[in-house]
Amino acid sequence: MVFVMTENVSWFPKHMKDSEDLLKKSLKAVNIVFEVLDARAPLSSKDMNIDRIIGQKAKIVILNKCDLSSNDGNKKWISFFNSGDTEVALVSAVKGDGLKNITNLARKVINKAGIKNKSIRAMVVGIPNVGKSTLINCIAGEKKAKAANKPGVTRAKQWIKAKSQFELLDTPGILRPREDKETFSNLAFIGTINDDVLDVGTLASNLIEKLIEIVPEELCARFKIDIKDKTPLEILENIAAKRGCLLKTGIVDYMRVSNIVLSEFRKGKLGKITLEYPDC
Ligand code: G4P
Repeated sequence: MVFVMTENVSWFPKHMKDSEDLLKKSLKAVNIVFEVLDARAPLSSKDMNIDRIIGQKAKIVILNKCDLSSNDGNKKWISFFNSGDTEVALVSAVKGDGLKNITNLARKVINKAGIKNKSIRAMVVGIPNVGKSTLINCIAGEKKAKAANKPGVTRAKQWIKAKSQFELLDTPGILRPREDKETFSNLAFIGTINDDVLDVGTLASNLIEKLIEIVPEELCARFKIDIKDKTPLEILENIAAKRGCLLKTGIVDYMRVSNIVLSEFRKGKLGKITLEYPDC
């Protein structure tokens, strides 16, 4: 799988180094860390440095966007994290599902760590776009953190007072994933890497290749197409014909059809899809 870049993607620009420093300082003020991952790609959306940074601090993993991930994938990831002795809450921050679970698990982990403090002072961490701001707003019960549709918008550190003895610290997104191609692809598919720096035609075609592998029936059903013996590019062209994405000359409007495929996948219109599974 090869992506065409329209400009260089830097995994570790200065603001990410700053956010790591800020995070380390902020740790002293909290008694638990909420590590937010995207349930569709938990490993790809994990900052591999986070465990080193937080050290022995109490932590729960929040698998967010579970309204978009498969039930089978959710179960497998929960048992994967549980087997490593990490508590996991399955959450849909946009729907408000799983919030009670967060409170219960946070209490459990804090008590286990022998912390007497009554209030849960949590720092919410995760790479951009996993839903940190949405989750904070959901727990707080109103719009206090800034949610945005472009990766990397959460910036300055902010404390948010929430209900149920919660205090939440929103931190800037840190993006330093593993640098293998599969991680990069998954992050691009779920919209964590800004589309502006990618060739959307190649991205959509690569997504189709992945969908053929993991959910071929859903792909056919959504776009009402036959995929047998077709290349991803041919499938993209078929979808363009079905959706009227043709220019006046009859040439395929690759940009438009690619954006349709990416957007419908990201909105869950093809169904609940998990892109990666744990090795076990
Ligand atoms: P961040 O702080 O970690 O950067 O993420 P943020 O909350 O800004 O959320 C990024 C996008 O993910 C937003 O969509 C948000 O609505 C969406 N999102 C967050 N949690 C969930 C969830 O549980 N399920 C689903 N399906 N989506 C979720 P957006 O399209 O960028 O913005 P908007 O149009 O929703 O405002």
